[in-house]
Amino acid sequence: MTRKIIIDTDPGQDDAVAILLALASPEVQVLGITAVAGNVPLELTAKNARIVCELAGRPDVKVFAGCDRPLRHALVTAEHVHGKTGLDGPVMPDPMMPLQDGHGVDFIIETLRAEPADTVTLCPLGPLTNIATAFERAPDIVEKVQEIVLMGGAYFQVGNITPAAEFNIYVDPEAADIVFKSGRPITVMSLDVTHKALTTAPRVQAFRDLGTKAGTMVAEWTDFFERFDKEKYGSAGAPLHDPCVIAYLIAPDLFKGRYVNVEIETLSDLTRGMTVADWWGVTNRPRNAMFMGDLDAEGFFELLVQRIGRL
Ligand code: RIB
Ligand code: CA
Repeated sequence: MTRKIIIDTDPGQDDAVAILLALASPEVQVLGITAVAGNVPLELTAKNARIVCELAGRPDVKVFAGCDRPLRHALVTAEHVHGKTGLDGPVMPDPMMPLQDGHGVDFIIETLRAEPADTVTLCPLGPLTNIATAFERAPDIVEKVQEIVLMGGAYFQVGNITPAAEFNIYVDPEAADIVFKSGRPITVMSLDVTHKALTTAPRVQAFRDLGTKAGTMVAEWTDFFERFDKEKYGSAGAPLHDPCVIAYLIAPDLFKGRYVNVEIETLSDLTRGMTVADWWGVTNRPRNAMFMGDLDAEGFFELLVQRIGRL
């Protein structure tokens, strides 16, 4: 059963791998891609999303620019991780395909209104500004969402941008609060699971060995992207965060998690953006999210290489 999805993204090398995986996989039908400000400013995320679609041989994909800043806070970007362009590593040509007219938030609203209920999955890979804005502007669309499968948050792994918070949630905690209170089924690919999706030399070599443009780009992106995490965590390689969202849609059995209550810290400067997951069930707060904590890393990378190899 093909799943219709909207990818909301702030490319970012790991977002780029997620988009390639989606465009290479018949299990998902990408209705459109909405760019959001996050890793780098909106102009660059909207450009990078198109660069990736063209690399996948899919200049037909509709790419929209969404919100250029969080709901309440000034934008915080992550050039220190992704480089100035957001896709540092290989030098890529500017995209030829156009950006769609219209705002990404309007595309999300119009698409959900037009599609039958429970048939569209939202796949946010960056700050949740576009999703929250769509829900606030058109509350009628919330019940039409089949599932929200997002990359964000952390419990055991705590923060990667502050000691308490993961980047996507930290950048726009108010937006995350709206999404986590929406009442729709949410599956959270937190750092707890993405930090187990680590590139290693053999795994990166497997992309290079594909001998394709896409395979080579993925290898060069990860070569660049992994230096931050290796320095910081002393880990073997870089966590491929965002592809976990798409891999879950294709092969959910690769992942393990727990259905728990998750609430977002929005008031404290010290812990802004923390995803407070009641992993041990110590409160009677209503459970609202499938919080992923483990994955079959070998199976994940086998799927990635096999699918990217199709492009
Ligand atoms: O914290 C990791 C997340 O922040 C990933 O989605 C990465 O692309 C950045 O957006
Ligand atoms: Ca991202």
